[in-house]
Order: sequence, then C-alpha cells, then structure tokens
Amino acid sequence: MKIEIAPFNSSLYKQALTLRNHVLLKPWNLVFTPTELEEEKNQVHIVAVEEGEVLGVVILKELDSSTVKMRQLAVKEKDRGQGIGSELVAFFEEYALENGYTQIELHARERAVRFYTQLDYERIGEVFKEVTLNHYKMVKNLE
Ligand SMILES: CC(C)(COP(=O)(O)OP(=O)(O)OC[C@H]1O[C@@H](n2cnc3c(N)ncnc32)[C@H](O)[C@@H]1OP(=O)(O)O)[C@@H](O)C(=O)NCCC(=O)NCCS
Repeated sequence: MKIEIAPFNSSLYKQALTLRNHVLLKPWNLVFTPTELEEEKNQVHIVAVEEGEVLGVVILKELDSSTVKMRQLAVKEKDRGQGIGSELVAFFEEYALENGYTQIELHARERAVRFYTQLDYERIGEVFKEVTLNHYKMVKNLE
C-alpha cells in the first residue's frame, strides 16, 4: 500500500470521489454540489492505493497561511482496522508541516472522535449539526 497525492480530476481522484460518495454521503442521501467539487481543484487529495485500487482518502484544504482543514477522511469498509486511516492522517500532517502550516482543524463525526483523539487531536467546543449529523470541532497544533 502506498500513500500519494492524486491530481485533481485524475483517475485516482475520481476513484477517491466514488469512495467518499459511498462512505460519507450516500448513507445519508447527501450529494456533492458542482460548486463543492469545483473548489476541490484548489485542495490536496491524499490517497492510499494498492494495485491501482484506492483504499482510503483524505483532503487538505488551506484555511489561512498557518491553518489547514482535514476533510473527507474515509477508508473502504473492508480495509478498516489495519492502520490505513492513521497512515493517511500521518501523511497529511507531514505534508502540512513541510508546507509551512502549523495548525490542523477538522469537523469530526461523533463516531470518529475516538479515532482522532488517539492521534492527539483535541475536541473543542460544543456538539453541532453538519449535514444532519452530530459533529465536534477538533484541532491539533503541529509546533
Ligand atoms: C474513521 C476511519 C477513517 C478510520 O480508518 P481505519 O483505517 O479503520 O483506521 P485505523 O485502522 O488506523 O484504526 C485506528 C482506530 O480506528 C478505530 N477503528 C478500527 N476499525 C474501525 C472500524 N471498522 N470502524 C470504525 N473505527 C475503527 C479503532 O479505534 C482503531 O484504534 P486501534 O488501533 O486502537 O484499534 C474509518 O473507520 C472510516 O472510514 N469510517 C467511516 C467514515 C468516517 O467516519 N470518516 C471520518 C469523518 S469525520
């Protein structure tokens, strides 16, 4: 398994989009809007790939010169529990540091809070609704 950056609109990007749709949207009858997808051309698409198959994905979006948002982390159901999610987060953090960012923010679905806590992300603030689901804001300082 290799972790790499998929160029926007490449075939790896499209596979990752299918995976995100399947894991993060479809179960809740959500869809990507054209505007959301258009904005993704300015974001970094990190994928876990094995023999041409995308097993996991995470996206880096710049918020300001020091802060990035971690979004759309998803691993194929059959491949969970093998460290792929943690490896994607580690790659994301390394990429962020190498590119001069010092702070990571994310909106964690309630069920994923434990996963991020294990990776030293800190929950801040109260629960809030996003795409109909309970979420918590979480942050990690890389300095
Ligand atoms: C959250 C997610 C990305 C973790 O990916 P993963 O590859 O299973 O993660 P890892 O193998 O690195 O496991 C790390 C921890 O996740 C948890 N985990 C393991 N298998 C899991 C599973 N099938 N479902 C949920 N959590 C699981 C465990 O607590 C594990 O800790 P451990 O190492 O002490 O056992 C993955 O479960 C997923 O895609 N979930 C659905 C989408 C989602 O919720 N994304 C986050 C949105 S904010």
